[in-house]
Amino acid sequence: MRLFIDTGSVAEVQEIAAWGILAGATTNPSLLAKEDGDPGEIIRRICDLVGGPVSAEVVSSDPEGMIAEGRALRELHEHVTVKVPFCKEGLAAAHALTSEGISVNMTLVFSANQALLAAGAGVTYVSCFMGRLDDISVDSGQVVAEIVECFRAGGVTSQIIAASVRHPEHVIAAAQLGCEIATVPAKVLHQMLEHPLTTAGAERFRKDWESRPEFGDWLQSLVSKRVGATRG
Ligand code: G3P
Repeated sequence: MRLFIDTGSVAEVQEIAAWGILAGATTNPSLLAKEDGDPGEIIRRICDLVGGPVSAEVVSSDPEGMIAEGRALRELHEHVTVKVPFCKEGLAAAHALTSEGISVNMTLVFSANQALLAAGAGVTYVSCFMGRLDDISVDSGQVVAEIVECFRAGGVTSQIIAASVRHPEHVIAAAQLGCEIATVPAKVLHQMLEHPLTTAGAERFRKDWESRPEFGDWLQSLVSKRVGATRG
């Protein structure tokens, strides 16, 4: 499963992209509205930082407006994927944009039926909002499992993005269920990173190594010799 970051913050993308784990990013109007600066510049910077698909969402409610906005967003950067909200107008716009070779991420999907309709429109990605399903006491894992099962059984090639990820368990569930992608907020990515046993283990290694200073000297000399050799 590939990891995208779900944010409109260039600073968050800069920090997490340095970990070498990101295959893309997703934005949406709410995430971008939190940021200062030009939205187009933000999207372009995020594209450059992740070097993979970055979703930028249309905001019109009619197909013609969605299509016009999608074409314009696509021209911001080669990595832009056009995000279209699920609705019948969005299906029409997604079909038109896809037929022009523009990658579409259909968002605000909450059921297997909606996902199948989105796939029928030919979208590249279908974003299922796990957190918001859980918010209304609907088992998000069950919905994602249904989407995965329907897509696999029918040979659907649209990729499933686990979105509205609220905690690391959503990421694990998405991977276990077979989602191609999870788009994860920076806060959750940090939560995935930390474990008390890792922290304690690293501290133990450091202290034990430091108890043998000659070992530290040995390793430093190994480094110096190699640096000297590569400099010629
Ligand atoms: O990718 C969609 C995500 O940004 C929505 O998250 O927490 O507002 O449901 P949330």
